[in-house]
Amino acid sequence: MKAAVLNLAVAASFAAGAAAQPHHHHHHHKRNAPAEKREVETTYVPATVTQYMLGDEVVSADEAKDGIDKGLYVVVGETTPTFTPPPPPAVTSSSSSKTDGVFIQKVTASSASPSSAPPTTTSSAPAATSSSSSSSGYPTGIDAEFPDGKIKCDHFPEEYGAVPLNWLGLGGWSGLQFTPSYKFGDFSISFIETGVKGMSKKTGFYSYACPEGYVKTQWPSAQGSTKQSVGGLYCNSDGYLELSRPESKTLCEPGVPGITINNKMTKNVAICRTDYPGIEAMVIPVDAQPGAVRQLANVESANYYHWDNKPTTLQYYVNQPGVSVEDGCVWDCPEDHDECGNWAPTILGVGKSSDGNTYISLFPNTPTSSAKPKMNINITGDISIPCYFKDGAYAVSDSGCTTTIPSGGKAVVTFSDA
Ligand SMILES: *[C@@H]1O[C@H](CO)[C@@H](O)[C@H](O)[C@H]1NC(C)=O
Repeated sequence: MKAAVLNLAVAASFAAGAAAQPHHHHHHHKRNAPAEKREVETTYVPATVTQYMLGDEVVSADEAKDGIDKGLYVVVGETTPTFTPPPPPAVTSSSSSKTDGVFIQKVTASSASPSSAPPTTTSSAPAATSSSSSSSGYPTGIDAEFPDGKIKCDHFPEEYGAVPLNWLGLGGWSGLQFTPSYKFGDFSISFIETGVKGMSKKTGFYSYACPEGYVKTQWPSAQGSTKQSVGGLYCNSDGYLELSRPESKTLCEPGVPGITINNKMTKNVAICRTDYPGIEAMVIPVDAQPGAVRQLANVESANYYHWDNKPTTLQYYVNQPGVSVEDGCVWDCPEDHDECGNWAPTILGVGKSSDGNTYISLFPNTPTSSAKPKMNINITGDISIPCYFKDGAYAVSDSGCTTTIPSGGKAVVTFSDA
């Protein structure tokens, strides 16, 4: 992902620049003007780019890590989640070098019939479905409408299907973006301060995870003025949570079904989706326990979140076998820094295009990480071409592979011992 580090002491807004983060073994800083760079520096996956900007300054990876470790900096993502589809199906939006070549579509709450919901929802989300009433007397659960402006910001709305991520230390929220000067109707948000552990409650956007197979529905139409993504419920100045995208009344909606994970190993695999739109840290978990089959949420890109008027896709960081979701679904892991969290060895990107196909990419997390998965990964099902990581190498090329399944098709991503 692209990232900016924000100096908490300064807490200034940062420039949306784009110098490629140099690979560990190279030292070619590029220092164009930020505005020009964004045009040049597209984020076609598999070529993901991580960069660290502090204000207008490029910060080295080591400096950034040092500042993060000391609690001086927080990381603010600036990714355009996208990947390059295989050649045959043309993607119209990628014709210009200025675009990020994304495709996508959407999922609305109203179009999602109950039968299209992932089948494992109930068992995978006991927290979301187990409570049948709340102190307010409203019906609760993942299908319950969120009572706009009635719940305090210090109450994580688990009764409405959101899944608390307690290991992040943010009161269950997946990310906090404080925006003191934001008003509804703003076109863009110029000041965003990202919450860290222990920060007090303030107005801003409080993002959340949804159960497996589901995606969040809430983000404001106003996005960051330097193209930062912003997402979550809005905590207003009275201290109450409001829907930021009121056309969706529930907090979560079912993703496009059809992609599953099958873990045949004796160790779990923590699969961590970036919280997007939002702080873009890879914290939204799918816990593939040994022997388990899990849903991997997908979205119709055209109808889901758009970044800079472009549709987006979902990105899943796949950790090494044996790393728990609490350890691995974080930006920076306390252990095994080089192969975990933002430095996880491999990424799965998924998105359903307006051509009806779902694109599934498996690609190394370069140049951020040089780690290789300590397992084999094979995508099977109604796929267009083989796409796998086996015996230390990806199908197609070193930069990974992309396969497609037709609308209504199925794909299984199988993890097995190397
Ligand atoms: C992936 O699975 C398919 C179907 O079982 C099999 O034919 C293929 O050989 C596997 N590929 C790899 C690289 O293991």
